[in-house]
Amino acid sequence: MELDSDIKTTPRGFHCTLCNVKLPNMPSLDQHIKGKKHKTLSTVRATRKAQEEHSVFVSGIKPDISQTDIAEYFQQFGPVTDIIMDKDKGVYAIVQFSETESIQAALSCVEHLMKGLKVRVKPREKKEFKLIAKKKNDHHNLQQVLNRLKPELCQLVSVDAQMQYVVERFQLGENEKKARGLLVQLLQEVFIEFFPDSQILPFGSSVNTFGIHSCDLDLFLDLENTKVFQAQTKSTTEQAGEGMSDDGRSEDSILSDIDLSTASPAEVLDLVAAILRRCVPSVHKVHVVSSARLPVVKFHHKELNLQGDITLNNRLAVRNTRFLQLCSGMDDRLRPLVYTIRYWAKQKELAGNPSGAGSLLNNYALTLLIIFFLQNCEPPLLPTVDQLKDMACEEEHCMIEDWNCTFPSQPIAVPPSKNTQDLSTLLTGFFSFYAKFDFASSVISLREGRALPITNFLSKDKEEEAMQEEQPEKASRQGPKLGPLNLLDPFELSHNVAGNLNERTQRSFQRECQEAEKYCRSLQYQRKSTKGKSWGLVRLFMPHGDLQHTKPEQLNISIPFKSASLPEGLCNQLHLMGDDFRLLWFKKVCWAVEGVLKSVLRCQLAPSTVAIFGKTSAVDAAEEMETTSASHNTSANDSCDSVECSDEASPLGPAVIGAKRRLSSGSDASVSPQGKKARLARRSNPEPPHWICVQKHIVWAGRRKVRRELIKDADSSPEGSCVELESQVTAHITEKEQELKEPLEFKVQPQMMGGTESTRAVFKLEPISDTMGVFHDFFHFLEAFLPKMAETLLKKEAGSV
Ligand code: UTP
Repeated sequence: MELDSDIKTTPRGFHCTLCNVKLPNMPSLDQHIKGKKHKTLSTVRATRKAQEEHSVFVSGIKPDISQTDIAEYFQQFGPVTDIIMDKDKGVYAIVQFSETESIQAALSCVEHLMKGLKVRVKPREKKEFKLIAKKKNDHHNLQQVLNRLKPELCQLVSVDAQMQYVVERFQLGENEKKARGLLVQLLQEVFIEFFPDSQILPFGSSVNTFGIHSCDLDLFLDLENTKVFQAQTKSTTEQAGEGMSDDGRSEDSILSDIDLSTASPAEVLDLVAAILRRCVPSVHKVHVVSSARLPVVKFHHKELNLQGDITLNNRLAVRNTRFLQLCSGMDDRLRPLVYTIRYWAKQKELAGNPSGAGSLLNNYALTLLIIFFLQNCEPPLLPTVDQLKDMACEEEHCMIEDWNCTFPSQPIAVPPSKNTQDLSTLLTGFFSFYAKFDFASSVISLREGRALPITNFLSKDKEEEAMQEEQPEKASRQGPKLGPLNLLDPFELSHNVAGNLNERTQRSFQRECQEAEKYCRSLQYQRKSTKGKSWGLVRLFMPHGDLQHTKPEQLNISIPFKSASLPEGLCNQLHLMGDDFRLLWFKKVCWAVEGVLKSVLRCQLAPSTVAIFGKTSAVDAAEEMETTSASHNTSANDSCDSVECSDEASPLGPAVIGAKRRLSSGSDASVSPQGKKARLARRSNPEPPHWICVQKHIVWAGRRKVRRELIKDADSSPEGSCVELESQVTAHITEKEQELKEPLEFKVQPQMMGGTESTRAVFKLEPISDTMGVFHDFFHFLEAFLPKMAETLLKKEAGSV
């Protein structure tokens, strides 16, 4: 097959230079070439090329020269098909001819005088057509925002304060609101020229009180009155036979080209797009998306760096925006909740479809989920939409497309909620509500403020199918499109606002809610870290996947070698070991850590530890491995130093290998509680030695209080300074406090690290089963407790305490 000139062969397959994609094999290449992207780009390129070949670049024109002036002047060289003017400054134009010969004629003319003004005419520059890659850096930008946000959030005093801060940090500023308002005003002025009596109305995040700095400007162009105007004008002109309406307004406008009562939305939007392109300064990148549920004209405003969307027939959106404003005004807690949950959802890749399409939740749907939760709090924080309807007065009665959209216009009409929960509790409540929510069998109704059984809608579906066959014109009145998450619009009851979600997104949403709920129960969420660590919202906002991939060193507890704090007896023993002091010290520390876990904190060592080590003691295992290795590995001595001193080597594994002869000469029987050296059967690739621990009680919480109760003068015995006392504290807690519903199971893997100068024992902790979400709290307690307690245990063993 002969390859398209855009396709290059590479060592790994093919590369399409037009679309900038790599294709591994012939079938994928074939598919790509037949695909939409390649075809569209080829067509766009061909059109551009044709335009370039048929046009000239004209510069030096003045703003008072119109498009008609230019067209009239250039007609002398041949038929002109289009003129594109730089509307912001009006200094250049591109003149397109229908025949290429006209270009030559225009270029060969020595001087161009247009209405007495000398202008320059040049051939078009031949620019290589390149696909400008879309920014893929959204994730990176989010991370940058979070990096800046982190320290600011960490220094606040409570989760509530953090949530308020998120609002302040992201909400639209007054100036931004003003700028948006001015743009709306400008658009209104322009559109009214073309569509008399039309109205341009903002809706969505710019005005619903939940807007953030970069949010879109959603606009509804209401042409209802224009249609009336057009109909009236038509009948008047028919009668009078003139182009003037009875109120004196000229109908010499775009309106004479289109009949709004019969034109399709796409036709009207094309017109709107043309007006935007030609008449609104700073507006560019205008295009119509007619495939959307509601066809839309998209544009970008350069100066405000703002993305705008104009839709027709969207009165319901303006009304539901009013509803969101009302909810916001009814309770101050809604905004911080919405901002926080929207940010969380964005970080977890659950919401925020780029360009509006996709299978993620849209912001509107997410906001409705929050409102529904607040309707279901105990006591409710927001009323149901039906209750709101009953609170409205007669003048507030509102029907749109036969949907009842009645609610009070002012929050004052709604009695305040009796719910007094703080923001942090409500946030946890939101996660726990949806962590358990039965999405499969429910349809969420804000109207009634409850989950309706999905079965109600399944039977309706059948009825409607039957009706649709009989009366296809009523198809739009069908029931909602059911899917993995069913969330009815509060007014347009046949619309599932989460109908775009797929199974995967619904499951991720629920899973992330479960994760978040677990985290919200930990102390790390509730309490500010005194050590400047991430707490509260910061961990909640970790991007999707980051928590799962937490670097192991973040869960390491390090005990450095400090000779000054070692008991004298041990110091002497270490001294006798010469350069091998590190291994002996490490064995001692492992023994002490095992003692703290087992005896002081009453962790149980799970049977798998026994299976791995052949005994219950990791220290024994170290010795066993060293014995085994020595007998099997004749070259072990040679490799000892290099492995032992490597920063990442596991000392109970490779670092101990070959150390036997040197170690055993100075090893102390007390290192191994059993004092025996059973041999491990030789195994290929044994897992590095570790302990598997099970903790059934929250032995880390409330220790100070128990300690104070056990001894009157708590100050004389600070935490970790007395083995018996700490063991008693644990015993007291385990007797008094209930067991965890599901025990915490975790793995502790010791490693010796660093060279002679920076020797340290590092204990890598990893949760195995943490259904109750307590691992992080236990870890943070151990971080401080374990090193102190191990030191005390070593001193006790040496008889110095
Ligand atoms: P968005 O989901 O874009 O919400 O819907 P948003 O708050 O404006 O957030 P941004 O724009 O992503 O920052 C915009 C508006 O569209 C209407 C609602 O009025 C919503 O506020 N809408 C959206 C609906 O009426 N129905 C829908 O299913 C979705």
